[in-house]
Amino acid sequence: MKTTFYGQSSFMIEAGGKKLLFDPFISPNPMAKDIDINSLKPDYILVSHGHGDHVADLIAIQKNSNAIVICIAEIANWLGKHGINNAHGMNIGGGFNFDFGRVKMVNAVHSSTMPDGAPGGNPAGFVLYVDGKTIYYAGDTALTYDMKLLADENLDWAFLPIGDNYTMDTSDAIKATDFINCKNVIGMHYDTFPVIKIDKKDAVEKFVKAGINIKLPEIGESIEL
Ligand code: NI
Ligand code: MN
Repeated sequence: MKTTFYGQSSFMIEAGGKKLLFDPFISPNPMAKDIDINSLKPDYILVSHGHGDHVADLIAIQKNSNAIVICIAEIANWLGKHGINNAHGMNIGGGFNFDFGRVKMVNAVHSSTMPDGAPGGNPAGFVLYVDGKTIYYAGDTALTYDMKLLADENLDWAFLPIGDNYTMDTSDAIKATDFINCKNVIGMHYDTFPVIKIDKKDAVEKFVKAGINIKLPEIGESIEL
């Protein structure tokens, strides 16, 4: 299974014969200037919450691809008001078997408002059961004891925010790997803005010292999961 990083918390995961795009924030991100959103043709777009740094390109990419949007019910309703009527609304704790695999929506401790001020429901993370692997995409979240609920899911990979200020920092993300019982981590939600700038070398050293296989891909880089 392949994943490609598009900056901030945006990734494409290719699994189950489909392209799954997470939290598209690409065109406003100067660090991702080499990524052309018109070249992205996802089959699904998964949205963790309504903040601009996760949904800035959601409507444009959806209209260009007709992707099915997987998100919390409130965001699905909001999309309906913007002429997107194929969103698949879910809620925390619920799962659904899609044609590419199963998605379960899980808790994230954060906030969620749409860019126009509309309520975005609760923020969420996702657990994906695809191609025989189990992947946790945490979204924006604090370290939370709810992560311990994932300890017996046999997670193969976890996408965790590490940028501090709005989410967990590196130290809390390392604690999270114990809670979720997963030592393969892709870091996200860092460096995009001054308040979430990290020392990448120092962060990698901390993860490695904790016995964690950490990946911080370059924007546009693909890695095999
Ligand atoms: Ni956020
Ligand atoms: Mn964010």
